Amino acid sequence: MELQFVVFAMFVIVASSSCLCVRLTSHDLRHSFNVLDYGAVGNGKNDESRAFMDAWKDTCSAIYESSTLVIPKEKTFMLQPLWFMGPCNSPTIYVKLEGTIIAPNTIEGWKWPNENDRGSWIRFSYINGLVVYGGGLIDGKGAPWWDCYSNVMCESENPTALHFHACENLILTGLTHINSPRNHISLNACHGSQISKLHIIAPNESPNTDGIDIAESSNVVIENSKMETGDDCIAINHGSTSIDIVGIFCGPGHGISVGSLGRNGAEESVEKIYVRNCTFNGTTNGVRIKTWMGGNGYARKVTFEDIILIEANNPVIIDQEYNPYDSLYGYAVKVSDVTFRNIRGTSISKHAIQLHCDGSISCTNIILEGINITSSIGEEVHASCKNVNGICNSCIPYVPCLSQE
Ligand SMILES: *[C@@H]1O[C@H](CO)[C@@H](O)[C@H](O)[C@H]1NC(C)=O
Ligand SMILES: *[C@@H]1O[C@H](CO)[C@@H](O)[C@H](O)[C@H]1NC(C)=O
Ligand SMILES: *[C@@H]1O[C@H](CO)[C@@H](O)[C@H](O)[C@H]1NC(C)=O
Repeated sequence: MELQFVVFAMFVIVASSSCLCVRLTSHDLRHSFNVLDYGAVGNGKNDESRAFMDAWKDTCSAIYESSTLVIPKEKTFMLQPLWFMGPCNSPTIYVKLEGTIIAPNTIEGWKWPNENDRGSWIRFSYINGLVVYGGGLIDGKGAPWWDCYSNVMCESENPTALHFHACENLILTGLTHINSPRNHISLNACHGSQISKLHIIAPNESPNTDGIDIAESSNVVIENSKMETGDDCIAINHGSTSIDIVGIFCGPGHGISVGSLGRNGAEESVEKIYVRNCTFNGTTNGVRIKTWMGGNGYARKVTFEDIILIEANNPVIIDQEYNPYDSLYGYAVKVSDVTFRNIRGTSISKHAIQLHCDGSISCTNIILEGINITSSIGEEVHASCKNVNGICNSCIPYVPCLSQE
């Protein structure tokens, strides 16, 4: 009896201590790292960048099932441009943003870690299994940058607020993003991303304040979000494939765009883009494919479906004459296999449907189906086309250049 107990006790000690030796060092016992424990104050004034970096180092180096950086609620943290670099050790890295983070108030107040790399404010790179959530707010304090942008005397290369580079299996959900100096969120070289329940807000007239820009990325889902900005709600750029956009409420803003592609003669391509169940309210465009003259590459297998328009300007548009100055003629990005299906509502301009393709290459297999766009101001609306081949089934307004089945 006694002997059995001793053996059992020894077993427990050996088992647990070997476990301790192999897996845990002292700080690995915690897998949650609160910026307040690293000296952050959260008064909206102090530069908290140092505390965030220190907390990030521990979050990223912890070896656990998951590791969490906590940015607590009811506090506001002012941050300089800050780059969260991976790779990290835990397979899942949570950034639980419950509070508010703000950029410096003035352009002069920004301190760059690298003067040659002023592209973005908050950046996450090379992190697999990153989950950014928590209901918090990211405020890019864009106003001085927008003023500078519209003043010729002021040189500014306005930065992106939140940039993700080479993050596999990213989840970004439930945050509010306001007043970025430039685009609010950009994704570059990120494969397998799920973005949902965001609210993105910037003034109607703020320049280049896109909601989300995507490039060089695949298998991205963006859903159930509201975007009210001064530029595109979502722009899908070169190197994007398998992008699903569902349940976006867009407006004010410039709509959802594929491109622009092919600037300065570049070869740029996108494919397998699916935009479904979106509403455009007072946007300057609705669903748009835009390419620069003189470019190369393709935009193909693009579907826009179940779209509601409320007083949208240029609601359905393929524009291959985008900024036609400075271009090489005789080249164009090839646009093919594009479907616009079940698109209904009102246009504030007469140009309900514009399919303007390049004469050197034409757009092919463009299918319109179940379109009903009427004027919001009691005018006639019409469709215009150039160099486009395809079919239109039950389209209001009538699209003269497409055949009907
Ligand atoms: C359509 O989008 C809205 C948000 O704009 C969402 O509430 C609704 O559930 C979506 N419906 C479908 C069928 O996806
Ligand atoms: C569309 O935008 C207008 C102007 O901002 C607003 O008054 C209206 O409520 C919006 N409509 C919907 C359905 O949200
Ligand atoms: C098109 O929309 C208008 C305005 O909503 C509506 O009165 C009309 O019946 C619709 N036509 C078809 C064929 O659905």
